Amino acid sequence: MKFKKNKFIPLSIPNLIGNEKKYLKNCIKTSYVSTVGEYVNKFEKKLSKFLNVRYAVSCNSGTSALHLALRVAGVEPKDEVIVPTMSFIATANAVRYLDASPVFIDCDEFFNLDYDKTKSFLLKETFSKNGKTFNKKTNRKISALIVVHVFGNAANIKEILALCKKKKIKVIEDAAGALGTKYLYGKLKNRYAGTVGDLGCISFNGNKIITSGGGGVIITNSKELAKKSFHLSTQASVDKLNYEHDDIGFNYRLTNLQASVGLAQLEKIKTFLGIKKKIKNFYSSRFKNLKNFTFNNQPPYADNNCWMLSINCKKHLILKKEYIINFLYSKGIETRSIWKPLHLQKPYKKYQRYNISNSERIFNNTILVPSSTNLKKSDLLKVISTLKKISKN
Ligand SMILES: Cc1ncc(COP(=O)(O)O)c(C=O)c1O
Repeated sequence: MKFKKNKFIPLSIPNLIGNEKKYLKNCIKTSYVSTVGEYVNKFEKKLSKFLNVRYAVSCNSGTSALHLALRVAGVEPKDEVIVPTMSFIATANAVRYLDASPVFIDCDEFFNLDYDKTKSFLLKETFSKNGKTFNKKTNRKISALIVVHVFGNAANIKEILALCKKKKIKVIEDAAGALGTKYLYGKLKNRYAGTVGDLGCISFNGNKIITSGGGGVIITNSKELAKKSFHLSTQASVDKLNYEHDDIGFNYRLTNLQASVGLAQLEKIKTFLGIKKKIKNFYSSRFKNLKNFTFNNQPPYADNNCWMLSINCKKHLILKKEYIINFLYSKGIETRSIWKPLHLQKPYKKYQRYNISNSERIFNNTILVPSSTNLKKSDLLKVISTLKKISKN
């Protein structure tokens, strides 16, 4: 089906309203198009300043950032990593790249790692030996836990952080879509998602709140982990003159071209966060009148970035999610399913899962609705009026 450009309402697209062209032109003019160049450093500096975190090490994707973060956190082959089942597949793939295994945990009402179930797993299903934590079922070492701040919703991890510290389990935050989300409670107050664990990862893919075309970053307050991350992201080079390397590294660094776009986007982050909040408030008020759908709110203990917004199809609505998505598409509105839980995915069916009951229901009932920062009020009204038509069915 083809729509005229201004007749289609996409789910989440880039909003390139700043210095993107100017900075890109400068890259071309100076020939600094690859991993060396002023924009890579400027982008990292500006990010760490915005997030109030000591170090930012840019990568060429959120996936490579996750892979590297797990590696520098010390995840080894045959280890286990606790992973929320409600995530994009890259989260689990990064664990497998290291030949470690995921243990899947359920999600809560905000799609995040279920706090009670995670705590229960850590307290009841693991034991300590020689200062390390092992899974009672498999006797394998649990070296890390990944917390995903799903769709920009801050995960409820205040006490999990303390528990993991006690159990010597490193916490990696997959904040791929959570740039700008800030905690409002307890000790975490005013700290950004991605900066409260040992290492955090953010993605700058095209659908994110800001984009560098493709890209990611590792953020941390640890000098040692930042140094290691940078070293491994640039082929573990120790002597450039003689091409000497002291480890098996990766070609994971962001390019100057990507960073130039990322920097221009980062200059607009406050504007984008403000628009996202307005879109959320609009939906939140309008959905009150819909019979068959509710708007999913964000966790109250954080100022969430509202990256992806979602609705829930009420129980009595017998129409399938796929029908609704296709119906909206036929009217020129792009919506999307949330991720199929990881423990149900072909490569991950054989891995351990713990007490999973919410995620399948949530997967079946939830639809992501348009939230691009360049949407007009008329677009949002169209989304609502089209959903009302489904409500009448
Ligand atoms: C939760 C999560 N983790 C990881 C990634 C991977 O990021 P990238 O696409 O930049 O590799 C994504 C991308 O959407 C994501 O949503």
